[in-house]
Amino acid sequence: MNQDAMKKAVAEAALEEIRGQINKDSVLGVGTGSTANYFIEALGELKGSFRGAVASSEETAKRLKARDIELFELNDVDSLPFYIDGADEANEHLHLIKGGGAALTREKIIAAVAREFICICDESKKVDILGQFPLPVEVIPMARSYVARKLAGLGGQPVYRQGVVTDNGNVILDVHNLKITDPKKLENDINAIVGVVTNGLFANRGADLLLLGTPDGVKTSSV
Ligand code: A5P
Repeated sequence: MNQDAMKKAVAEAALEEIRGQINKDSVLGVGTGSTANYFIEALGELKGSFRGAVASSEETAKRLKARDIELFELNDVDSLPFYIDGADEANEHLHLIKGGGAALTREKIIAAVAREFICICDESKKVDILGQFPLPVEVIPMARSYVARKLAGLGGQPVYRQGVVTDNGNVILDVHNLKITDPKKLENDINAIVGVVTNGLFANRGADLLLLGTPDGVKTSSV
């Protein structure tokens, strides 16, 4: 089974997971990236049995719209039963690195609101220690150099993601060579730097359920 087939399999497994737990009033949080895109494709099958979706990026909004799924602003929704999204790395505690697609801030907001965060990814994303994937940090543009110096002070090598402007009008620094042994603390420490909007560590609010695509099928872990 190749990587795309594993992504498709976990997307379909997520659909099965939510199928019996949603109703006509349910609004779903939907993530960003190639695995989330497979989920959006699969979601068509449930049309009519849920109300609509909140998108974590403009790209995802476009894809949901193309499938005739009604879009909601998060501010107009009281609760989200599920948030379904991929990740760039996941550890055994279901702490994640996200933001490879630059959508980390909206993703983190939706994850905070959702009752259950279902993370879907293929086995290449499973790691013992987070940090091999450069940690994305969304930064207010005028604070870029200041934040980069502070991130270097925390032991990482920040690299400006040239040419990328987030959906919120900010820039991204990707922090290389971090060995993240205490993800909750690092998440808080980076968020405390003035000029940081958010960082791609999802540890204080990690996933609740991980569906991991492997050549032997989808493996499930929860916290
Ligand atoms: C988007 O900003 C990210 O958080 C994605 O969830 C992450 O990059 C996973 O993307 P893939 O499903 O394409 O690997």
